[in-house]
Amino acid sequence: MTSERIQDALDVRQRAYAPYSNYFVGAAIMTDAGVFVGCNVENASYGLCNCAERTAVFSAVAAGAKNITAVVVATRDGGSPCGACRQVLAEFAEADCPVLCVNESGTITLETTVGALLPHAFTPRNLTR
Ligand code: THU
Repeated sequence: MTSERIQDALDVRQRAYAPYSNYFVGAAIMTDAGVFVGCNVENASYGLCNCAERTAVFSAVAAGAKNITAVVVATRDGGSPCGACRQVLAEFAEADCPVLCVNESGTITLETTVGALLPHAFTPRNLTR
């Protein structure tokens, strides 16, 4: 299962549109309604660039999947999700949701959780309504 998701993240990374940074990112997220993938999509107007993780999450939500149960992120060097993506992942994942970062060879460089990446998160689970 894990190795399949790593391969999914590596595969979608190949489709990243990153002509400005040349930093290609792929993300595969498991949800209770299946697997969704995303890549980073950059723009000549740099501020409009979208990260791979958020592409995957938004694709999942658009398909009706709102419970993320695992995340794999693939980059050339095993980089970990940016702050914005941590916040977006925390919206749809429990704190103990596993997050794997892998490099371009598929080697795991970081094995962590959504909660460890974003402690004391501002999420629907922690809000008093
Ligand atoms: N990027 C991601 O796709 N995910 C992250 O968590 C960090 C950064 C992308 C954004 C941009 O297209 C490129 O990597 C360089 O920052």
